[in-house]
Formats: sequence, structure tokens, C-alpha cells
Amino acid sequence: MQVLVFHGRSRGKGQHRERVDCTLRRHLWQAAHSVRHCADRHGQPRYRASRITEPEKQIIVQTAKHSRSEQALLFARNFFKHPKMLGSLIPSSRFLIEHLMKQIRWDKARVIVEYGPGVGTISQELLRRMSKDAKLVVIEMNADFVDFMRRQFPDPRLHVVHGSAADVDAILARLGLRGADYVLSGIPFSTMPAEVRSAIIDKTRAALRPKGKFLVYQFSRAVHPHLQQVFTNIRREYEPLNILPAHLYYCSA
Ligand SMILES: C[S@@+](CC[C@H](N)C(=O)[O-])C[C@H]1O[C@@H](n2cnc3c(N)ncnc32)[C@H](O)[C@@H]1O
Repeated sequence: MQVLVFHGRSRGKGQHRERVDCTLRRHLWQAAHSVRHCADRHGQPRYRASRITEPEKQIIVQTAKHSRSEQALLFARNFFKHPKMLGSLIPSSRFLIEHLMKQIRWDKARVIVEYGPGVGTISQELLRRMSKDAKLVVIEMNADFVDFMRRQFPDPRLHVVHGSAADVDAILARLGLRGADYVLSGIPFSTMPAEVRSAIIDKTRAALRPKGKFLVYQFSRAVHPHLQQVFTNIRREYEPLNILPAHLYYCSA
């Protein structure tokens, strides 16, 4: 619990927060994780006094808020540097994330792959819900996001890969994984070169296990015909409560 005392002294002084190193973050993450598993039957947090005291609770909440604003800021900064690669100024909304989460059978999901996690808005929900022995492989091209993800989520189930979704086959092979149960993707298919887009869609189809699903969210419908060329079953949904409103495609072989 030393970590919590450290954060307590730094509360309100932004410059100290940067000093939190990976080990401290790991302890904090673990503490926050225990809190989450202490929810009552209405989903409200219930804290075990023996494990987490009231001042510690405040510090966890403060840090979580800080993390969210740090995430939003980093995302926006990178949007201005690489608008085409990001495709959006802010991360996905909780409404959009909820759509995606509902598609996943958590008892069956052993390997989940996410393309373009950005600052981990969706990855953190995946990690929260997936089982202890499942794996999450996130593939991200932006080095700032890769660095952030590695610092922010020191979870042994997570593999953060700096690379392109176009290399998903080689990446899974390198990690010794035979295929994925789910692949999630919000990478901007409409602004990337056509040959990269088809390589990603083809390789994703090949990487999916027999009952696997490719869950795609986009801000335009442009990708739909390209998905139809490769996947037999595609279910469509729409989420207006996102900036920008999102089209969702749930694809299976
Ligand atoms: C719209 S953002 C989505 C961020 C996050 N998943 C979310 O929903 O908030 C798209 C992300 O895809 C990444 N990206 C773009 N092309 C990629 C590619 N070929 N392979 C992997 N990541 C890519 C970008 O760097 C960016 O982080």
C-alpha cells in the first residue's frame, strides 16, 4: 500500500504524477482491480475495510480520473499529428464500447485481438471482462500509444505489439497463438491504401478460429462491400452516441 501513500502526497500537483513509475502503477492497478471486484449487487463499489481504507479509496478514484484525462489529451494530441491514421479526435464512447462487449462470449473467448487500441479505451473494458486465462493482443502503429498502453496496463494477459494489423498472421505466430476468437477493429479502413485494407481483411479472416468473429466499427459505410467480399455473415448496427456516430459490422465466416 506504499504506492497509495505516495499518490496521496502528490494529489493536486500534476508534475508529481509523472513520477509514478511502472511498479507503482502495477500496485495501483492491482488495488483498483480489487475495488472493482467488490461491487455490491447494484453494481456500486463496496470497499473491504481490511484491504482498502477510505483515504486510499479517494486516491484510487483521483488517479482513475487523472488517467482518463491523460488518455483523452494524448489521443487528441496524436489526432493533430496523424489525423488519417487515427480517424477520430476522441476515443470511443461507452455506448459504442457496450455494443462491442455484448458481442463477446466471455466464457469462450481465449484469444482476443484488438487493432488500433489507441489509449486503451476498449482494451481496458476487455481486460476487465475477460477470463483470467484469456489473452489480449493489441496491435498499434502509433509509438506514443504503444508506450502509454505498456505503462498504463501492466496486466500479464495483455500483449502490446508495436506494428500494423496487416501483420496479424506473423504477430500471432510469434506469440505462439494459433488463432483468435475475436478481432476488434476501429482502424480507419476508408483512408488507408486499398492493398493494405484488403491484406488486413483477408489476414483477419484467416486468423479467426472456426467460430471466430471480426467486430468492426467505422465512421463511414465505405468498408462494408470490402467485408462482404471476404465474410459470409455480416450483421450491422449503428451507434449515434459517439463522436462521430459509428457503423458496426459483426462478421463471421
Ligand atoms: C479511431 S482510433 C481508435 C482508438 C480506440 N480503439 C478507440 O476506440 O478509442 C484508430 C487507431 O488505429 C491505429 N491504427 C491505424 N492504422 C493501423 C494499423 N494498420 N494497424 C494498427 N493500428 C492502426 C491508430 O494509430 C489509432 O490508434
